[in-house]
Amino acid sequence: SMPNVAEFHLKVQMSKKEFIKGNETNTLGYNGDYLGPVIRVRNGEKVSIKVKNNLNEETTVHWHGLKINGENDGGPHNIIKSGETWNPTFTINQPASTLWYHPHVMHKTGEQVYKGLAGLFYIDDEVTDSLNIPKEYGVNDVPLVIQDKRLDSSGKIEYNLGMDDVMMGFKGDTILVNGAINPYIEVPRGKMRLRLLNGSNARIYEFVFSNNQKFYQIASDGGLLDKPVEMTKLVLSPAERAEIIVDFSEYKKGNVVEFTNQGTELMKFVVKEEKQKASNIPDRLAQIERIDPSKSVKTRKFVFQGMGPMVNINGKQMDMNRIDEEVNLNATEIWEISNPSMGMMRGMAHPFHAHGVQFQMLDRDGNPPPANEAGWKDTILVNPGEKVRAIATFNHSGLFMYHCHILEHEDAGMMGQFKVK
Ligand code: C2O
Ligand code: CU
Ligand code: CU
Repeated sequence: SMPNVAEFHLKVQMSKKEFIKGNETNTLGYNGDYLGPVIRVRNGEKVSIKVKNNLNEETTVHWHGLKINGENDGGPHNIIKSGETWNPTFTINQPASTLWYHPHVMHKTGEQVYKGLAGLFYIDDEVTDSLNIPKEYGVNDVPLVIQDKRLDSSGKIEYNLGMDDVMMGFKGDTILVNGAINPYIEVPRGKMRLRLLNGSNARIYEFVFSNNQKFYQIASDGGLLDKPVEMTKLVLSPAERAEIIVDFSEYKKGNVVEFTNQGTELMKFVVKEEKQKASNIPDRLAQIERIDPSKSVKTRKFVFQGMGPMVNINGKQMDMNRIDEEVNLNATEIWEISNPSMGMMRGMAHPFHAHGVQFQMLDRDGNPPPANEAGWKDTILVNPGEKVRAIATFNHSGLFMYHCHILEHEDAGMMGQFKVK
């Protein structure tokens, strides 16, 4: 027996679900019919996860945003064959954050995620313990996984790529929140913390509340920001997360606040009478230790280019047998990611992501990062024509991926491998 190890079980399974009542469709899920349980751990904790693959095909489970060694990362080399169990074990060594997990099989990631394989992974720590922010799971601290689906007239979600989907990524016309179409939630008259994950294959969202209700972003991909950022609109590209606090205390019982994407309603918040235990929006959140750019021993360039089946990074498409970049263990490096425009054609925005590491953005197109991107980031949207510089220290060894998180681009080969040793 191993004391003090947090143990989790994930069963990757085929299932069925009715997104539209009375219309069943085939789905995939972890322990259930769609999506997966929230795995919740603490910084410093030892974790063991037993993943049983009950699909009749291969899968992997990648811990997106976790700083762990390559053999536990769940990338395309960590294949779990049908019927087999994979048991990664690792120690959490990073601040409180909202991370997530999803499959990462070569050429299959888009399909497996689309059919339902994704779940959240929370880390808690002493900093979040000490802050008087909403933290009651399901009451005033609620996850919102946003995904778009293409639901056909019989209520089925199929993943068949047309030429447009290969070019632009697979986008649907129905947007789900936690697997539901247009749901509502009753909220206390007070502050509500929402943990948003863009779990979509390709769609970029612009989230707004009705009446332009303001809110505060308190965390980005890899943890709390230095201080809350007041905003009325939040842009999230695939795989990005944000924690926000919305204050419903000025509303009356029964008032409804809508949460929308570019004018389309995604869900409703229905305000309840009860006043909740007072919490505040602190002036300071976390003390983020800034990585000093003068510590960087190397600047690496990643150029996102090409279209459709030709998408590539630095002119190369993913090859499982080729290591593209070698990074020294514990080195600090600046990664420069650019998305050059292609003549007259306005290209696409590509969300850059790298495994096993968290970045601090140095600049976006020569300007300091926007306040809500000034904390830890593992996924960075790079718009057409832009260049982003980000710095990181590579504390974990092994083989890792960097790629575009538009899953159809990733599956088409817009991915490379870096080895840390
Ligand atoms: Cu969220 Cu390589 O992935
Ligand atoms: Cu990842
Ligand atoms: Cu892309």
